Amino acid sequence: MMCDAKMNSIGIDSLSFYVPHAQLELKTMAERHGIDPDKFTLGIGQEKIALTGFDEDIVTLGAEAARPIIEAHGADGIDTLFFATESGIDQSKSAGIYVHRLLDLPPNCRNVELKQACYSATAALQMACGHVARKPDSKVLIIASDVSRYDLNTSAEATQGCCAVAMLVSANPKLLAIDPVSGCFTEDIMDFWRPNYRNTPLVDGKYSALRYLNALVQCWKDYQTNGGRSYEEFAHFCFHLPFSRMGEKGHRHLAGLAEAKADPELCKSGMIYNREVGNCYAASLYLSLISALENTEGDLSGKPIGLYSYGSGAVAEFFSAVVQPGYKEHLMPARHRKLLADREALSYDAYLALRDLPDPRDGSAVEMPHTARGRYRLAKIDGHKRHYVDAAG
Ligand code: CAA
Repeated sequence: MMCDAKMNSIGIDSLSFYVPHAQLELKTMAERHGIDPDKFTLGIGQEKIALTGFDEDIVTLGAEAARPIIEAHGADGIDTLFFATESGIDQSKSAGIYVHRLLDLPPNCRNVELKQACYSATAALQMACGHVARKPDSKVLIIASDVSRYDLNTSAEATQGCCAVAMLVSANPKLLAIDPVSGCFTEDIMDFWRPNYRNTPLVDGKYSALRYLNALVQCWKDYQTNGGRSYEEFAHFCFHLPFSRMGEKGHRHLAGLAEAKADPELCKSGMIYNREVGNCYAASLYLSLISALENTEGDLSGKPIGLYSYGSGAVAEFFSAVVQPGYKEHLMPARHRKLLADREALSYDAYLALRDLPDPRDGSAVEMPHTARGRYRLAKIDGHKRHYVDAAG
């Protein structure tokens, strides 16, 4: 067995996200629904909802997120692709297989889709670390990609969004070494779910928020039992953010558990990007992580970050990671800020029109209008098959 890499740590070597060109400002939604906009900006702590066009979905977002990583690092050594999503486009085939072709990844690569509401990217990350521990020369590409779309005229409508985050996991990572200790919790509850016959999920938002906080308690206790770090050691905390106020509440709850005074600065920079994007389910925690690394002033090198992952239904995990020296040189803040800034703010009617997705259940052909700003598009659905194209050929 070949094991050339001298392994000191395992974790995240590269991080990238992608959002489409369209967004709805929540003040536009507030105006249409006759709601005080402060309910959204202050009450739930969100500014905008990222929106997909007809020719964009979890596949195109995922390929766009991963492309800069492959361009910078090449695909050598990637022997596994984990695609984490809860808004899958097929009940059988992994969305990662389309991405594998679009990115021209090595053929000798395993490829699987993981689902457990907003938690699955964390399962992917832990499994990737386990895989690299066994095979230190290998790399794992993780793509967390989701489109959050609730029924119109429900309280959940303001907490929609979409985004994909791509992560490269390797030995001796340039960004974050993942601690082997974590705290996990599972309970069988119905706070958010999507039966096979529905396009939108069902959610009991208030109940879900309570279970999110209870699961945080259970995870933190398990993390401590397993020899985890103390609250005081952490330089920052990142949370799964269905909306940013949920993370603020989570942080206060955690500080209370640790009998510490909650300092809002310890989770603030990790919410900047999420406020502009909305909920992106499996990608949410990792968008928060990118936001924290790219927006925290000063140097986080050598400092631990606490991460709380929650997926309704419910599975949760608290784990930690240590920021690696020189990490700033390997981030992509300019690209990410430009992606967020260069977006078109839609009218409420234009947003409504985007929800009228083609649904060719009879197998007929539907060409998608070209609105995607990226390289990858869903060009058509024909004979029940999705046809993805690369504009670069
Ligand atoms: N100015 C300032 N604040 C205002 C305000 C105003 N004019 N009007 C209301 N608020 C405040 C309220 O006081 C409330 O604050 P608190 O939570 O501190 O009490 C906050 O704004 C929200 O107001 P409501 O509770 O009245 O809001 P709502 O009934 O519209 O529901 C929601 C909010 C439950 C988040 C709903 O949007 C929802 O169900 N979203 C989808 C599910 C979700 O996000 N669940 C969270 C955890 S589940 C999870 O994590 C998994 C997942 O991703 C789905």
